Amino acid sequence: MNAETEHNDRTIVVTGATSGIGLAAATRLAGMGVRLIGVGRSAERGEQALRQIMRAHPDAQARYLTADLASQRQVRRLAEQIHAAAALGGGRLDALVNNAGAVTSRRTLTEDGYELQFAVNHLAPFLLTHTLLPLLQNTPQGRVITVSSTSHYHARMHWQDLTFRRGYFVLRAYRQSKLANVLFSAELNRRLAGKSNVRAYAVDPGLVNTGIGTKGTSAFVSWVWRLRAASGRTPEQGAETLVWLASQPQLSDPQALYWKDCHPAAPSREALKPDQAARLWALSEQMCGLSGASDQSEP
Ligand SMILES: NC(=O)c1ccc[n+]([C@@H]2O[C@H](COP(=O)([O-])OP(=O)(O)OC[C@H]3O[C@@H](n4cnc5c(N)ncnc54)[C@H](OP(=O)(O)O)[C@@H]3O)[C@@H](O)[C@H]2O)c1
Repeated sequence: MNAETEHNDRTIVVTGATSGIGLAAATRLAGMGVRLIGVGRSAERGEQALRQIMRAHPDAQARYLTADLASQRQVRRLAEQIHAAAALGGGRLDALVNNAGAVTSRRTLTEDGYELQFAVNHLAPFLLTHTLLPLLQNTPQGRVITVSSTSHYHARMHWQDLTFRRGYFVLRAYRQSKLANVLFSAELNRRLAGKSNVRAYAVDPGLVNTGIGTKGTSAFVSWVWRLRAASGRTPEQGAETLVWLASQPQLSDPQALYWKDCHPAAPSREALKPDQAARLWALSEQMCGLSGASDQSEP
């Protein structure tokens, strides 16, 4: 089987595939011939992204689904749609790329009552991964790739007030959510070890020139972000590591947790603490209405 045929066989989901790193990754993966399922929060932006991909790669096997990942109801509905779409391809999913991310200057609550950055950046990947795990387990090497950030090095979990009822500050909440991405990936690997071929990876894309800091932010934060991001990489460069992890049949170090520039890298010490990861897992289960799932064998 040559590399192209192997790619043709893969089904890959990319969330946040309507702009920035996610759109660049989706375009690249579609060009490789994978069956791409892109996820966007608006149908219109999904259609735009799909048109852009089809213009670049007329033979692409791509489709888009719509879900606001701030809503657990919509995450669950999305999972059902992905199950239905994957059924056409043999009921398997080779990689889930949890890329969607949000930055909000004001503390905003979701319909489920959670702080928005924590909900979109951590709880949505947690719940989506949980609901798609049976599909990922149907492939020889299912991969869960979650986009974290260098920001996680400056973070700790604020257990006393995880959703920042007091002292909300945009970067503190963002960094915590990006630390949660690494803790989640590490804990998923611990839970699946020896029982499953699914492996979780956290990716640091570097500083990337996208609009993320301008969408839910004040004029000042938006201005600071634009100045900072101008020196960043292109979205295509930012997408390289996650595209590589999602598409490579063999990884140089399949056990490595944290990846940057297509190489394993060391995450923060905080991110490697099993007690922090287990605590986050238990709390996330409760927050997603999955309580009791810890007592079961999977995951
Ligand atoms: N840019 C950087 O320097 C950088 C550095 C480290 C890590 N990251 C991470 O990289 C990932 C992608 O960010 P980006 O920089 O490419 O930003 P971006 O261009 O703003 O892309 C974010 C994507 O997430 C989607 N999204 C946001 N809120 C959503 C929601 N509630 N439901 C569903 N989708 C939602 C956006 O949809 P719309 O297109 O509709 O806005 C967009 O497709 C994020 O996880 C971010 O934390 C970025």
